Amino acid sequence: MSKRFEQRIIMITGASSGMGRAVAEACGREGANVIALGRDEDALAEVQQSIEALGGRCLCVPFDLYRFEDYGRLFLALKDQIPHLDGLVHCAGEIKRCTPMQYVKAEDFRRMLDIHLAAPNLLTQMMLPLLRRAKTASVIFTTCDMIDRDLPNWHGYGLAKRALGYAAAMWQFEQKDKEIRFNTLNPGKIRTELFRRTYGGMHPKEVPPPEDVVEAYLYLLSDAARNHRGKTMHASDLLPATEAS
Ligand SMILES: NC(=O)c1ccc[n+]([C@@H]2O[C@H](COP(=O)([O-])OP(=O)(O)OC[C@H]3O[C@@H](n4cnc5c(N)ncnc54)[C@H](OP(=O)(O)O)[C@@H]3O)[C@@H](O)[C@H]2O)c1
Repeated sequence: MSKRFEQRIIMITGASSGMGRAVAEACGREGANVIALGRDEDALAEVQQSIEALGGRCLCVPFDLYRFEDYGRLFLALKDQIPHLDGLVHCAGEIKRCTPMQYVKAEDFRRMLDIHLAAPNLLTQMMLPLLRRAKTASVIFTTCDMIDRDLPNWHGYGLAKRALGYAAAMWQFEQKDKEIRFNTLNPGKIRTELFRRTYGGMHPKEVPPPEDVVEAYLYLLSDAARNHRGKTMHASDLLPATEAS
């Protein structure tokens, strides 16, 4: 049986855990060459092993996305190793705790804007020459319920996630001459480490595992989603489309 992403090169941030890991493994299963970014080298090595066991290929890149000064070096290290980039999935993220705006510390607030807004946009900027070399490419920003719901206590995290919808639209306007799609995806509440920290009160059984939303990411990466451009989407709306396609 042919695999959906044979010969494609897909970079995934946050690939060492949760959603990013599930997306990385699913891309590997579909034949992609996966570039897996994260800080935890042991966890990345496990992801590499599981992708290789599925018959895929994986290049692990231990990388701290807070270190903006290293982004250029990352591009230089990759540009001669890979001919192009067909997909870039932004799944990295963290939050120590939810806090009302009244009390949030400046450092915590700034870190949320850095990892959830500056990092995905600046990494996209840095990888753009490789994305532009692909015949078609898909960039996915992972957002959350705050994309269109007003919820308290998420300070910089919520503000950054809401801004990603505009980011995808802005990228799409600016990159008209190439077949690159920029979209924002809300997976909904998913049972991961980040979820455990923020929604500790909810029983894990009330929340689906990452594998349940992976297909929405694969759909947006695939040619079937070629008409989705500059949009904000919810995995719950896309999953029926993936079953039909
Ligand atoms: N879980 C949910 O309910 C939910 C809902 C909506 C949106 N989201 C979003 O989904 C994305 C994935 O989160 P998750 O739930 O899968 O959480 P997770 O299991 O905690 O995974 C977070 C990932 O981000 C990576 N990461 C964090 N800071 C990093 C940094 N400075 N540099 C490089 N990598 C970094 C972590 O890797 P290392 O530890 O190896 O650095 C890890 O792989 C996040 O953007 C999150 O905001 C989650």
